[in-house]
Amino acid sequence: MIKGRTRVALLASALIGGALSGCAPSTEPQKEDTAPAAGAEGAYRTELSMAELMAHVLDHAADGVWLNQGWVVDDKGERELFPTTEAGWLAAENSAATVAETANLLLLPGRRVDDEHWTDHAHALHKASLEAMKAAEARDKQAFFDAGGAMYVACRDCHQEYILGEEPMSGPQR
Ligand code: HEC
Repeated sequence: MIKGRTRVALLASALIGGALSGCAPSTEPQKEDTAPAAGAEGAYRTELSMAELMAHVLDHAADGVWLNQGWVVDDKGERELFPTTEAGWLAAENSAATVAETANLLLLPGRRVDDEHWTDHAHALHKASLEAMKAAEARDKQAFFDAGGAMYVACRDCHQEYILGEEPMSGPQR
């Protein structure tokens, strides 16, 4: 996963760290939700594991935001990564919308972890990606970049708690 982006690299190292850590808390979904469900809960199809949802849906959608924002300095000089066409901005907006809705998928019965922190993390991701969506719609580069940073913080905070088993962070980020 070579992205050349500091925060993506940090995310990757946090995940590798999580894989190596033997003391991560359980992310088993709620017991009652894994039983054959009656009523509305039985309507959900959650065969995709958390890891599959992350790797194939959420990470992919988040890349559609992160790879389309920021500034880089390399041997070609300084340049922007923001979209330069209407179609490019629309694709970035689509990706942010997909992240926002995927945050809801983390809360489905049968998938969510029965813990209020889990819900807080998913809501933080939802809020940041909605901001990214609005900023992309407004073609506001700085706001789009800032919202992408807030999205990253939401991913990182949840991984720190549920993969690495670290205490949740306090302060304005939550
Ligand atoms: C509400 C909590 C939560 C949020 C928010 C969250 N993740 Fe995750 N993520 C997890 C958990 C738990 C795992 C470990 C899943 C497992 O291995 O069973 C994980 C694993 C992953 C993986 C590794 C998947 C694999 O192949 O093993 C990637 C990649 C990932 N997340 C990307 C992201 C990105 C990108 C974001 C933000 C846009 C994000 N996650 C937000 C909880 C979260």
